[in-house]
Amino acid sequence: MNPRAVILLLCAFGCVSDAFHRIAMQRHRQRKLPHARHLWASRKHIRRKFGVTAAAAPQSGGSSTNSAPSEAIEPLFNAYETQFYGPCLVGNQPFTLQFDTGSSDLWIPNANCTTCAKTCDNSVFQAAKSKSFVANGTAFKITYGIGEVSGVLATDTVSIGQISIKNQGFGLVSQTDTCSSFDGVLGLAYPAVALTRQKPPFYQMIEQKLVDQPIFSFHLKSNTTDGGSLILGGSNSSLYHGSLTHVNVTEQKLWKFTMDYIGFPSRKCRRCNGCNAIMDSGTSLLVGPTEDITQLNRKIGAKYNTTNGLWEVQCARIKYLPVLELGIAGKKFHVRPQEYIIAYEDNVCITGFMDLAGINFWIIGDVFFREHYLLFDVEQNRIGIAVAK
Ligand SMILES: *[C@@H]1O[C@H](CO)[C@@H](O)[C@H](O)[C@H]1NC(C)=O
Ligand SMILES: *[C@@H]1O[C@H](CO)[C@@H](O)[C@H](O)[C@H]1NC(C)=O
Ligand SMILES: *[C@@H]1O[C@H](CO)[C@@H](O)[C@H](O)[C@H]1NC(C)=O
Ligand SMILES: *[C@@H]1O[C@H](CO)[C@@H](O)[C@H](O)[C@H]1NC(C)=O
Ligand SMILES: *[C@@H]1O[C@H](CO)[C@@H](O)[C@H](O)[C@H]1NC(C)=O
Ligand SMILES: *[C@@H]1O[C@H](CO)[C@@H](O)[C@H](O)[C@H]1NC(C)=O
Repeated sequence: MNPRAVILLLCAFGCVSDAFHRIAMQRHRQRKLPHARHLWASRKHIRRKFGVTAAAAPQSGGSSTNSAPSEAIEPLFNAYETQFYGPCLVGNQPFTLQFDTGSSDLWIPNANCTTCAKTCDNSVFQAAKSKSFVANGTAFKITYGIGEVSGVLATDTVSIGQISIKNQGFGLVSQTDTCSSFDGVLGLAYPAVALTRQKPPFYQMIEQKLVDQPIFSFHLKSNTTDGGSLILGGSNSSLYHGSLTHVNVTEQKLWKFTMDYIGFPSRKCRRCNGCNAIMDSGTSLLVGPTEDITQLNRKIGAKYNTTNGLWEVQCARIKYLPVLELGIAGKKFHVRPQEYIIAYEDNVCITGFMDLAGINFWIIGDVFFREHYLLFDVEQNRIGIAVAK
């Protein structure tokens, strides 16, 4: 690997590490949220994040997702989308950021965000304590990010591992309607979709020659105590089996590519015939059109619960379920039922296939990342995929 690359240890669900002063699941448990609620919240977030408007026609299969059973008035606790987060310094002040390939902005909470500090217990930025801080003051609003955040733009030194980016523009959030297990977000998608119109941190790293290669890679193994790692500026072939399969990016906005198919070939179920998909570290599940998701869920005998909008399976059946297969760039990639079924408290198990009425592409989230090594190449505009060790 290259000398100028940084390996960042990430924190997964409930991991304990000295580098993090909080444990995601712990705070979530204290809140005693009914589990269904943040899944509804998560649908709402995905809708906003990608600007998907709800389909007008009611969907079959009882899976209309247009309105949550209880619209939350207090901030939503978004503990469900926290798979990839890690430490970062802004103006020498520590924050825990979500590393999100599904957006392109960097934002952190500002000292005057009372919801961030008091309700969400996030770290907040003290501009007066940073010598390198430069105010800008232009207002920004991200209406379809993780929650709705707004504030003003600013510039400061941003450090990730040994890498220090000078004059990084970012959003300082003074208002939010969502609480997350992390303080802010660091977007890793293309500059074209940066709502703050600031050059995304990874592009600054390339421009300021802080990394040797214009690539970054994710390695997340679900069954380890740490959350895996993100390598900015390099990759490590000892973390995967065989060689990488590359798929070209079809639109340089999000990490969009053409997926050949997704399904259970062993049960004669293949959905999506050369459809659009995005690789998104910031979404937990596999999200797709209602009809396709309904088919996948029915093939494994999942039951739709109309009360909470979730597809449930008996946990004891996991070992009898088929392996999910994704066709990408002529190759087959697999996700075991242990990964695509999510065990919940009280022995409730739900599937990792979430429908979103009105969506016309697939979102390939952490369920896929957990078993695959993923390399993102911003120069050759392609994604490399291999089975993770
Ligand atoms: C690559 O990963 C292996 C396995 O975790 C590790 O032992 C090795 O140190 C890594 N290489 C570099 C250069 O970080
Ligand atoms: C928070 O602070 C910023 C920067 O000082 C200021 O522009 C903004 O108006 C403040 N917002 C609130 C809600 O106090
Ligand atoms: C604030 O940032 C915007 C966008 O990068 C830039 O066009 C503008 O000149 C900046 N304003 C100040 C006062 O620095
Ligand atoms: C995790 O690892 C343990 C021990 O190595 C194993 O028994 C268990 O089946 C693994 N779980 C998953 C989901 O792979
Ligand atoms: C991917 O893009 C490269 C460079 O633009 C091109 O040479 C190659 O043929 C493309 N591969 C496929 C399968 O389209
Ligand atoms: C459906 O979900 C509700 C709320 O989580 C739960 O109380 C109920 O038992 C579930 N129904 C079935 C049939 O599992």
